[in-house]
Amino acid sequence: MTDNTYYEKLINAADLTSAAPVSEPDRQYYFIKKARAQVKEYAVRIGHQPSVCVTTFGCQMNARDSEKLRGILEEIGFTSVDTEDADMVIYNTCTVRENANVKVYGRLGGLNSLKRQNPNKIIGLCGCMMQDPQVVDKIRKEFRFVNLIFGTHNIYMLAELVSEVLARPSEMIIDIQEKTDAIVEDLPVDRKYSFKSGVNIMYGCNNFCSYCIVPYVRGRERSRDPEEIVCEIRKLVADGVREVMLLGQNVNSYGKTLPEPVSFAQLLHKVCAIEGLDRVRFMTSHPKDLSDELIEAMASEPKLCGHLHLPLQSGSSRLLKVMNRRYTKESYLALVDRIRAAVPDISLTTDIIVGFPGETEEDFQDTLDVVRKVRYDSAFTFIYSKRHGTPAAVMEDQVPDDVIQDRFDRLLKIVQEIGRERTARFEGQTKDVLIEHINEKDPSLVTGRMDNNAVVHVKGDASLIGQIVPVHLDSCRGFYYYGTIQK
Ligand code: 5AD
Ligand code: SF4
Repeated sequence: MTDNTYYEKLINAADLTSAAPVSEPDRQYYFIKKARAQVKEYAVRIGHQPSVCVTTFGCQMNARDSEKLRGILEEIGFTSVDTEDADMVIYNTCTVRENANVKVYGRLGGLNSLKRQNPNKIIGLCGCMMQDPQVVDKIRKEFRFVNLIFGTHNIYMLAELVSEVLARPSEMIIDIQEKTDAIVEDLPVDRKYSFKSGVNIMYGCNNFCSYCIVPYVRGRERSRDPEEIVCEIRKLVADGVREVMLLGQNVNSYGKTLPEPVSFAQLLHKVCAIEGLDRVRFMTSHPKDLSDELIEAMASEPKLCGHLHLPLQSGSSRLLKVMNRRYTKESYLALVDRIRAAVPDISLTTDIIVGFPGETEEDFQDTLDVVRKVRYDSAFTFIYSKRHGTPAAVMEDQVPDDVIQDRFDRLLKIVQEIGRERTARFEGQTKDVLIEHINEKDPSLVTGRMDNNAVVHVKGDASLIGQIVPVHLDSCRGFYYYGTIQK
């Protein structure tokens, strides 16, 4: 779904008889217009309106980036589909753990066979994995059939890049920018859901946790202007959006580097004041930067959802130091106490890494201790993955695989036990649920989320999608509820 009339005017205003404008996003409006003509020729060559499949790997940032990619591609004449036999396939990749890379290489083999059947097929790769020069080298050598490689800093240039690919289809076009200060917005976006949307409030990360590749592939922290964010959300609300998820690698440090600094809590108050918006979420919070001002906002703003994702990574103060997390077990637990005192019913979720270099059984017991004390509604548990170029990759004392697996299994069991108990705490109560889609397994049901992010299935049909309805939570089945809509 793109707001056609708004962008149509801007694109039509581009003058293809003169050189492409230098300033953004005007330059991209020019290339959208130019690519449209090229896509028409491509359509004649292949005998039909071309389709595109954008496949997302990884996090919500990538999911949002994919919506932007789709928005641009639709604007230049591609029809978006979900199957990889499409005329164009773009993989928006992740590289946070090595298995994300392995997955992409595996699936590229499949794309190669599809391309043999359809030589006009265009294959593009973008996202975090492409910011690693070793990856690009490997693709250049081993995956010669790829048409386009670009990175995280220039997704807004997609129309320009596709225009180049269409002009030189037998070449591999590579455009990776090492870093950027630019934030280019105001380009078409194709939202997956009509009623909810991610909104980028900042890009990049400055924290350099010693295991993490994100600061290297997403660049330094850059915050968007608060008024531009509010303006984007107002437009989304006018277009039917009821829930927004404010996105950033570390939203708690939002605004610190703006010419006129604004705190994240101040931004939240501005966003919550937008009329017609019902729910506001955000992701991700770094514990070291979570302010009392934010806790106060969470307690006082009814639109802020009762869910906080607060990555722990490890419960061992010793390891947290080596991870460069800049908090301790004690300060994390004290923070959770402050949050719970202000917002008693809040659902807390987290990320935990098992097997960071040098992790001892004692360190691991500290992690289990925090899990038992905090009682998370759910936790993403990860086996440590070595990312070359990060400080942790060259640390001695890498933990043996069998020890990691054993710890991982023990952690998962406890996380799941507690998660089940926590999720069930609203059984018998009535809660508002935003209905999101028809249930995949049973089409007589629709599925939605409570404000704490718990999933609820209720009897109903497509007419309920996008509505917030009161639901009696009849029974909890592990990590989701069955409920009944209250009239
Ligand atoms: N190995 C395993 N997990 C990692 N994460 C980030 N880097 C690594 C790594 N090298 C996890 C962290 C982060 C989440 C998005 O991914 O838990 O919060
Ligand atoms: Fe990675 Fe740490 Fe930045 Fe999160 S805060 S993206 S874990 S470096």
